[in-house]
Amino acid sequence: MDPARRAEELRAQLREASHRYYVLDAPTLSDAEYDRLFRELEELERAHPELVTRDSPTQRVGAAPSEKFGKVTHSRQMMSLANAMKDEELGEFAERIRRLLGEEKARFVVEPKLDGLAVTLRYENGKFVQGATRGDGLVGEDVTQNLRTIKAIPLQLAGDPPRLFEARGEVFIPKADFVRMNEERERAGEPTFVNPRNSAAGSLRQLDPRETARRPLSIFFYEVGESSEKFASHWRKLARLRELGLRTNPENKLCESLEEVRAAYQALLQKRHDIPYEIDGAVVKVDSEDQRRRLGAVSRTPRWAIAWKFPAEEEATTVENIFVSVGRTGALTPVAALKPVHVGGVTVSRATLHNEDELRRKDVRVGDRVFLRRAGDVIPEIVRVIVESRPPEGLPEFQMPRTCPACGAEVHREPGEAITRCTNLSCPAQLVGRLRHFAAAMDVVGLGEETCIRLVQTGLVKTPADLYTLPRDQWLSLERMGEKSVDNLLAALERSKRTSLRRFISALGIRLVGEATALALARRFGSAEALLDASLDDLQSVRDVGPEVAGQIFEFLQKPENRAALRRLLEAGIAPEPEAQVSAAGPFAGKTVVLTGTMAGYTREEAKAEIERRGGRVAGTVSRKTDLVVAGADAGSKLKKAEELGVRVVDESGFRELLQVPGFAQERAEAGGPEHRG
Ligand code: IVH
Repeated sequence: MDPARRAEELRAQLREASHRYYVLDAPTLSDAEYDRLFRELEELERAHPELVTRDSPTQRVGAAPSEKFGKVTHSRQMMSLANAMKDEELGEFAERIRRLLGEEKARFVVEPKLDGLAVTLRYENGKFVQGATRGDGLVGEDVTQNLRTIKAIPLQLAGDPPRLFEARGEVFIPKADFVRMNEERERAGEPTFVNPRNSAAGSLRQLDPRETARRPLSIFFYEVGESSEKFASHWRKLARLRELGLRTNPENKLCESLEEVRAAYQALLQKRHDIPYEIDGAVVKVDSEDQRRRLGAVSRTPRWAIAWKFPAEEEATTVENIFVSVGRTGALTPVAALKPVHVGGVTVSRATLHNEDELRRKDVRVGDRVFLRRAGDVIPEIVRVIVESRPPEGLPEFQMPRTCPACGAEVHREPGEAITRCTNLSCPAQLVGRLRHFAAAMDVVGLGEETCIRLVQTGLVKTPADLYTLPRDQWLSLERMGEKSVDNLLAALERSKRTSLRRFISALGIRLVGEATALALARRFGSAEALLDASLDDLQSVRDVGPEVAGQIFEFLQKPENRAALRRLLEAGIAPEPEAQVSAAGPFAGKTVVLTGTMAGYTREEAKAEIERRGGRVAGTVSRKTDLVVAGADAGSKLKKAEELGVRVVDESGFRELLQVPGFAQERAEAGGPEHRG
């Protein structure tokens, strides 16, 4: 088939699949099928770069990091909502409407009030052209490139879109993703987020779209701004948003009366904990556009809508102490020890204060009464200090320590960074953290915090490699370690030697390298040795690895002590296997390939990356060990040599065919397709 037609067909199929998945919540393609089509389109576009369109699903993360965001003046103001805290205030809202509309009846739409970040997206002739944050309501920031990375946002509207259409909605992070992301960040030594709202806002305001692409952002649309199509009612507008492929909240309800509004609010309140994202109330909106016009607005809040908040699920308690814990990357984290209190079904006795800035911002002091809630329904968060309860003589401000509370070394805070770190690499607290991280990543069952602390205190273990060489009697000499637990632990250590490369890389504890990055590195380099040899360029060319992360990895790998520690682990018998699926299948798995000549669809670097991602190795010279030579146009002596030695040779189209042989594509699908599932 004509490549141009095929590309268009694939794009249409992929777009339709995303629409069914995100908007209709009724997927028709499996992840693997979606992924196969996606890969086919990628290959096709690579072979025919002229066929790439801006709205192709392959082009979500395309833009280079920017210095700062441009400003966008909203064509129509982005208003904010007045709040109703109790039933009476809803009554007053309804009463005001009744006064202004006279006898005329009003219908309402009740929607969940999402706790995220308002954005507006401009579509021209169905194409997504610009997206902005709300800002002050009049002028926001241009976050187009970041919004493009959100998979629930269509780059091209479905059906028969209006010439101009501005969709408004809320970007947010689902609760479960928030918790997972924070755990992952903690493991990677990155600062944790305070709550889903903050993390959504922070993610959308990343200067590097690749970073945004890694965050589990989602969106619901709930209003239309400027539009060449007009609507008689909000309910119609919501239906139209869906038709165009813009996700709306399935919990939205059309209500004929105030009683129905109240019932809808109660129903949402009942299920708020079962809803997979945070909501903090209901938004009640007049349905008729004509009525909305007549009701108008008072300064920046419309009279036709109100945010009816849920009662806060916050409990008051006392901060009994603030202590500072030291993590494996040396990060100093202030933690509040609380008088135990029951919130949202569990007893909470401590809450992280994240870092110095956060502590200052909230101005939490020992002895303060505070309100506590559970962010994302899980993570205890101090919402605010009850300043009125502070004794008249005040309380002393908390000071972050100037030296490490674990080892007494200097602490350091990089300008522009939120985290203060202990500068002593052999700090016992860091070492305990590194051991625990290593044990968790390598699945060494039974090596818990207590044991790690004792191993460090006794000086028996200085790096994770020591775990593998420590003799049995030394293990037995540890307090509270009996024969049985030592044997179990030794068996677990033995088992852990057979591990996957991604686990091994993640166990190294490189800053900013979480599980996803470890997997990308494992796929790209295929062995620990190849990773050790990686240049900064190599690291930067890894898909989904941004410049900052690449820099961290490079810095880590350049340090002699890290290289030595890594080698010692390998010498201790750890044998990380390349990602099973990569090596198990496909024509490049375990093969040595030589590239020569030039290809139209691939640079040398791209071809190399494709081969390495499939478990192959690219060599510079042809020898008897060469499995395959890819000869582009104007190939010279290497081609001749290959022919002399009888090495298999393919041209560009043969190469492209080999890239499409399954094995690799299936494995990618299992790990979550590139576009379909977040
Ligand atoms: S409608 C004038 N609908 O609440 C109407 N807003 O204080 C403006 N929000 O900035 C928006 N859920 O960030 C609307 N279902 C919903 C909403 C919602 C959350 C946020 C939005 C807005 C703020 C208004």
